[in-house]
Amino acid sequence: MLDWTDRHERYFLRLLSRHARLYTEMVTTGALLHGDVARHLKFDVAEHPLALQLGGSDPDALAHCATLAEQWGYDEVNLNIGCPSDRVQSGKFGACLMAEPALVAACVSAMQAATALPVTVKSRIGIDDQDSDEFLQRFVETVAGAGCRTFIIHARIAVLQGLSPKQNRDVPPLNYPRVKGIKQRYPELEIIINGGISSLEQTRSLLEGSDGPALDGIMMGREAYQNPYILAQVDQQLFADTLPVPSRADIIAAYLPYVEEQLAQGTALQHMTRHILGLFKGQSGGRLFRRHLSENAFRKNAGISVLRDACALAEADTSATGDMRQEEQLKENV
Ligand SMILES: Cc1cc2nc3c(=O)[nH]c(=O)nc-3n(C[C@H](O)[C@H](O)[C@H](O)COP(=O)(O)O)c2cc1C
Repeated sequence: MLDWTDRHERYFLRLLSRHARLYTEMVTTGALLHGDVARHLKFDVAEHPLALQLGGSDPDALAHCATLAEQWGYDEVNLNIGCPSDRVQSGKFGACLMAEPALVAACVSAMQAATALPVTVKSRIGIDDQDSDEFLQRFVETVAGAGCRTFIIHARIAVLQGLSPKQNRDVPPLNYPRVKGIKQRYPELEIIINGGISSLEQTRSLLEGSDGPALDGIMMGREAYQNPYILAQVDQQLFADTLPVPSRADIIAAYLPYVEEQLAQGTALQHMTRHILGLFKGQSGGRLFRRHLSENAFRKNAGISVLRDACALAEADTSATGDMRQEEQLKENV
């Protein structure tokens, strides 16, 4: 997610789940062909499994970037056919390419010829008035014909004129049955659903197929960013991992050495804390945590103690509130 899933955020999320696959921000072919490759592609080995998401529509350029993905050690290359922004349309990237499945197929073929990594596609269910089962089927069938086995489908259309990128994530209604219809029709393909998923219960029901065919995976975007602690139970609940669920304080303790190392390399503290403001979301200390980081992490020479203090404040408030609740309950029971 642009501006959100940078390498600091991904390192942090990896502390919450060892198994969930993480995706980079979209990187355009132009940025890699003409820009600072290391700045865009460098990541910490702890981030695996990690997919590089590319934006582009030139098969040769995408093939070159897929090679770079492999050289830099990514686990997957994903092609973005879902982004609705104007800037992206003018360069012929993103969701507008759903109208050109043959070109997307050519891109996938070229990328597959250039790398042994899995090449996957992230799309919408349609664009503008091309909002039908048949349109999506034609897209998936054509791209699968080029060898793509995995489709991540954001279960709403993109409206290419008249809605902002932000509105395009909320205004067009979600249509899960259309994504499930694709799984039903092409059971051999791996179909991963995205859009509006905000709990592990909902995730389980989509994976188990309690209402339609079982889907092969879910992609969680905003909820994982805004309420990252939701990922803390993913390994136990979905990947049968037996390690204990880490507490929020455990997560911060595990993040501190990374933050210290980055600070020593000259990274500003706020780059590493701006993504973690939601860690205590839903806890009574959540507001204190957020406020302490927001008010202090941007200061010149802000150091590790800002993060330590924010965590201590949140923990103390949460446990004090918990004690008060217990006392109230005791009084009620007497
Ligand atoms: C700030 C922001 C940036 C995003 N950037 C990307 C991106 O670079 N590539 C992409 O495929 N989707 C991007 N998305 C869309 C999400 O990946 C996802 O498809 C969408 O938010 C719906 O899923 P959700 O309801 O789980 O958030 C972005 C979303 C947000 C909020």
